[in-house]
Amino acid sequence: MNNGLDDVIATETVMSDVDGLAGRLVIRGHSLDDLAGHVGYEDLVAILLDGFFQDLPSPAALASRLGMARRDVFEMLVAGGAPDRELPATDALRAAMARLGDGEDLDVALRLIAAPAILTPAIIRQRRGEAAIAPDPTLGHAADMLRMLHGTVPRWEAAAALDTYLVTVSDHGLNASTFTARVVASTQAGLTSAVLAALSALKGPLHGGAPGPVLDMLDGIAAAQTAEAWLEAALDRGDRLMGFGHRVYRVRDPRAEALKRAVAALFGPGTNDRSRLALAEHVEAAATSILARRKPDRSLQINVEFYTALLLEALGFPRESFTSVFATGRVAGWIGHAREQVLYGRLIRPQSRYVGPRPDQAA
Ligand code: ACO
Repeated sequence: MNNGLDDVIATETVMSDVDGLAGRLVIRGHSLDDLAGHVGYEDLVAILLDGFFQDLPSPAALASRLGMARRDVFEMLVAGGAPDRELPATDALRAAMARLGDGEDLDVALRLIAAPAILTPAIIRQRRGEAAIAPDPTLGHAADMLRMLHGTVPRWEAAAALDTYLVTVSDHGLNASTFTARVVASTQAGLTSAVLAALSALKGPLHGGAPGPVLDMLDGIAAAQTAEAWLEAALDRGDRLMGFGHRVYRVRDPRAEALKRAVAALFGPGTNDRSRLALAEHVEAAATSILARRKPDRSLQINVEFYTALLLEALGFPRESFTSVFATGRVAGWIGHAREQVLYGRLIRPQSRYVGPRPDQAA
């Protein structure tokens, strides 16, 4: 049995292609290197949704409608009733987004894309006892998200770094959350249902829940000279090293390099962040070589989550919100896949092999 469906091709898609041997990611015909750091998130939304909505406007008009969707979502989900403060951050995001109506049209899609950018800062501020800040529809998606988090318009470098992150994680083949979105979409349950199910898959530590634990690991290691001993002890206990390994990549995840570049551009020389980056680089090298020695049959290198952790920390997101920021980028990919499934796919309904007892075998 192939319990994890490794290498099973379950659909055709025009959304993205992950080449795990060459370490290349193509999103809607563009290489990641041509997108990350060059294209804003709004423009990428236009690229991802192209062909999936009859009334898709020009990229400029779509960006402005996304700004208005942020304003609408704030009115509906924040001003009209605060997110649940008792739940963990990702669960609070999911509970608040569940209040959005279902449907298949562009307005539903844009509200879903807007929602994590609005709710993530609101949830963080609520937990700090601070009032939520309303969006500014005229700003870019990334800049507005940081403004709603910190209360001031971010410096250009910070907005650019978040933009790079959101673009980098926007779509990635048939990963667990995207597959989930397609399964739900295939029942014609609607885009909100597909996105909520995908978010539920994303939050697990084997998928989008890893960057918080990456920071815990860096905190635990604390200094380069203790890295090797710390990593060996973790592996001796049977722990997995968070931010390492991938189902598809057998080489370094190409998203890691895009994010490392964004982190390096964000950190000024001589700051504490720089020393954090130096520690992370040391841990990457040490862990890669330890894993190569311990697991010679499996190529285990860093995945997208490793430098994500540093980037989001430097932008001032608390670690419990990292999965929600991931969802802020990935949501447009989920919606593209869900629409593709509805338009061109059919009900996803695989078979299982029964291995339990049968009535005629009862003792
Ligand atoms: N640390 C230590 N060992 C590992 C790691 C790791 N991070 N990842 C895989 N291995 C080992 C396994 O223990 C296993 O060894 P064994 O054959 O001796 O038992 C072998 O490599 C193969 O592992 P699988 O579980 O079959 O690999 P799979 O493809 O299912 O796992 C996954 C991929 C879940 C990402 C895994 O590498 C992992 O758990 N990584 C840590 C969590 C993480 O970083 N998640 C984020 C992934 S990126 C994303 O989803 C956005």
